[in-house]
Amino acid sequence: MAMAYRIAPSILSANFARLGEEVQNVVAAGADLVHFDVMDNHYVPNLTAGPLVCEAIRPLTKVPIDVHLMVKPVDRIVPDFAKAGANIISFHPEASEHVDRTIALIKDQGCKAGLVFNPATPLSHLDHVIDKLDLILIMSVNPGFGGQKFIPQALKKITAVRERIKATGRDIWLEVDGGVKVDNIAEIARAGADTFVSGSAIFSTGDYKAAIGAMRAELAKVKT
Ligand code: DX5
Ligand code: ZN
Repeated sequence: MAMAYRIAPSILSANFARLGEEVQNVVAAGADLVHFDVMDNHYVPNLTAGPLVCEAIRPLTKVPIDVHLMVKPVDRIVPDFAKAGANIISFHPEASEHVDRTIALIKDQGCKAGLVFNPATPLSHLDHVIDKLDLILIMSVNPGFGGQKFIPQALKKITAVRERIKATGRDIWLEVDGGVKVDNIAEIARAGADTFVSGSAIFSTGDYKAAIGAMRAELAKVKT
């Protein structure tokens, strides 16, 4: 069966002065998810948007909101994002005192739970929790900014995670975030990813439909 691929535009690269319109436009252009980057100027050196902004965009679209928390500590903000309409909440193990507890908290709030791996974060963090996860997010840049270059070492890590997912027999999404564009999306899919975050490569173009369409055309060439 062909792999179901999902494209998740990161609204970090959207025009924040017209955020609602940007969300609607990118969904109309074919986005499967809206990727919502939350940065706290503590865990990462940048500051973005919180639950109020998530709540404001929630009524504008039916597609799932994929919240990527780059905040430390994590737990106290989780219920706020769940109430704000997040569907998926992902966090970094370095930012949580008790990873298993944070996963349980996210699920108790009715959201899907994801664990995020920075380029230098070992996959051993999966050892005791992979069976509880709905999503694994591999960072292909160091988190904090849009528009960075894809780190090629991520490809091997993606393949290793795909193997670990297969071994569980569960449908865990494998998402990749950072420097994803038309030129490299097929290679990333071949490595084993199924969900692609892309910010600057979509929002820097004037035609979101063409950008997402070009990514889908590349994905259609990938044999699974
Ligand atoms: C980086 C963020 C990414 C980022 C992706 O810390 O998590 O979601 O916005 O942007 P591009 O696609 O421009 O690398
Ligand atoms: Zn992100």
